[in-house]
Amino acid sequence: MTTLREATMNDLLKFNNVNLDVLTETYNMSFYYHYLSKWPESFTVAEGPNNNSIMGYVLGKAEGDDKLWHGHVSAVTVAPSYRRLGLAKTLMDDFENLCVNTYQAHFVDLFVRSSNHLAQEMYEKFGYSKYRRVLGYYSGESAEDALDMRKALPRDKNKE
Ligand code: COA
Repeated sequence: MTTLREATMNDLLKFNNVNLDVLTETYNMSFYYHYLSKWPESFTVAEGPNNNSIMGYVLGKAEGDDKLWHGHVSAVTVAPSYRRLGLAKTLMDDFENLCVNTYQAHFVDLFVRSSNHLAQEMYEKFGYSKYRRVLGYYSGESAEDALDMRKALPRDKNKE
């Protein structure tokens, strides 16, 4: 059985099985602490039955003003051994529900590597559209553009 719950600081010490993946961004500790202190409800882990295996997580936040008030997915990732079970769908649905009911956001957005076609197709299946390309968003050795993908929520009645 899978449990969804808010992440804690201890989870940062045991999510290597999820983050040891080239397509999963790993940030420094202060980045995660910032999310945990400011948007704890948006950092959700999927946990396995024995309470010590993290199967995947979604890390998000809410930001923007007026009509640009939106939810942002900073990371969604699932450990290789738990893929194709619908976990990414469950985690994204959970975050979108939070954006609708708690944040009352107009839309949800996320950035994805331009080479990550699998994730782009998955997001399209979840109702996201490619909104713009952000040149050179990802820096370092594997520098590349990002695609900004967005999904309108019910508050954005006219899909503005
Ligand atoms: N091949 C083809 N389609 C795939 C796929 C694959 N390997 N994995 C997911 N999909 C698509 C399918 O349409 C799937 O629906 P279906 O199973 O009904 O056909 C849909 O996405 C949802 O699949 P789900 O089981 O919820 O995804 P997941 O739990 O396996 O997680 C990722 C998908 C992308 C999060 C996971 O592969 C991952 O963590 N990848 C590395 C990190 C990453 O790329 N994150 C996104 C970066 S922005």
